[in-house]
Amino acid sequence: MQKIHVGLCGLGTVGTGVVNVLENHQEQIKHKLGCEIEIEKILVNDLDKPRDVVIDRAWLTTNPDELVDNKDIDVIIEVMGGIEDTNKLLERALNNKKHIVTANKDLMAVHGQKLLRLAKANKCDILYDASVAGGIPIIRSLSDGLASDHIEKIMGIVNGTTNYIMTKMTDEGLPFDQVLQEAQALGFAEADPTSDVEGLDAARKMTLLANLAFKMELHLEDVDVTGIRDITQEDINFAESLGYTIKLIGIASIHEGKAEVSVEPTLLPKDHPLALVKNEFNAVYVHGESVGETMFYGPGAGSLPTATAIVSDLMEVVKNIRLGSSGNTYVDPQFERLLKDDNE
Ligand code: NDP
Ligand code: HSE
Repeated sequence: MQKIHVGLCGLGTVGTGVVNVLENHQEQIKHKLGCEIEIEKILVNDLDKPRDVVIDRAWLTTNPDELVDNKDIDVIIEVMGGIEDTNKLLERALNNKKHIVTANKDLMAVHGQKLLRLAKANKCDILYDASVAGGIPIIRSLSDGLASDHIEKIMGIVNGTTNYIMTKMTDEGLPFDQVLQEAQALGFAEADPTSDVEGLDAARKMTLLANLAFKMELHLEDVDVTGIRDITQEDINFAESLGYTIKLIGIASIHEGKAEVSVEPTLLPKDHPLALVKNEFNAVYVHGESVGETMFYGPGAGSLPTATAIVSDLMEVVKNIRLGSSGNTYVDPQFERLLKDDNE
């Protein structure tokens, strides 16, 4: 039976989940793909760190070359975070004809369009469903399930850490700093949780969704962002007394070719469906011209939910390798615009 060899960059919250999902669902994955998936190498910072997962210690390395230049490796799963160094590493991997699966929205929001083009040029896949809303297949739904529609608006909760904080402050009256520490301990928060709390993580995710849905090249600078750092218990109590809940809401909309994206704390009536989304859960409304309103709901962060999205992307990559159809997962928005101009 054919074997696909994987290099895993990162063995933290998400990387550990990936090893567990691959192990626990091994038979199902093998049956569905008709081939086996084998981890070849795992890139980490610290070889001696105790790990919460059963692995062969010989897989561990601190040298990225052992993954990126390794002729036996077909697919790189990037779950270590970081922007510039990680971008260089993935560029090298693509130029070495390795397919990529990543959960890294920071990287994709900054270098995504270039990486997608490079992947296409190398006939490789780069899939990133895990980078937005953890276990919810929202990127996949926008690029596949709703591909025939014109998406007009996307709105929702796309950051688990801030939703966890707002839930615990609202329902249990717990202090901000204590709940943030809990979110960090549970593995929901970013390495630097400032990006969660200040709304940047949500802004990057909304940028990725808007680019995909509206076929644009928006950047973080195009998003109006306000985080939750300045929201006090008094604000929450006051909102509650009027029948409202405060949530960090991202909105992306397009009108006459002009897109607008924002992330800000928003007052929602307590019985609004988004007000009922608790803890690290995310929910995203997508409004399409033909489909109308759809809503996606599920765990937006955490080890196994995020790993599920990663492994599903990995399976898509493997299917494409076996069908010889890699590198077709991206259509250049500029190309789409040229086509549209030609047709007008
Ligand atoms: P962690 O901090 O838990 O894990 C990071 C891992 O990467 C660690 O194993 C670390 O090694 C390794 N690592 C980091 N930098 C380097 C480096 N320069 N060289 C070698 N190894 C390195 O992060 P998460 O698992 O939480 O997140 C990983 C990625 O997934 C991030 O991009 C994050 O935004 C994204 N993500 C996270 C979600 C979550 O719920 N946590 C959900 C969705 C996306 P060591 O173990 O030795 O320290
Ligand atoms: N820090 C992110 C969040 C992880 O809390 O949503 C999932 O992308």
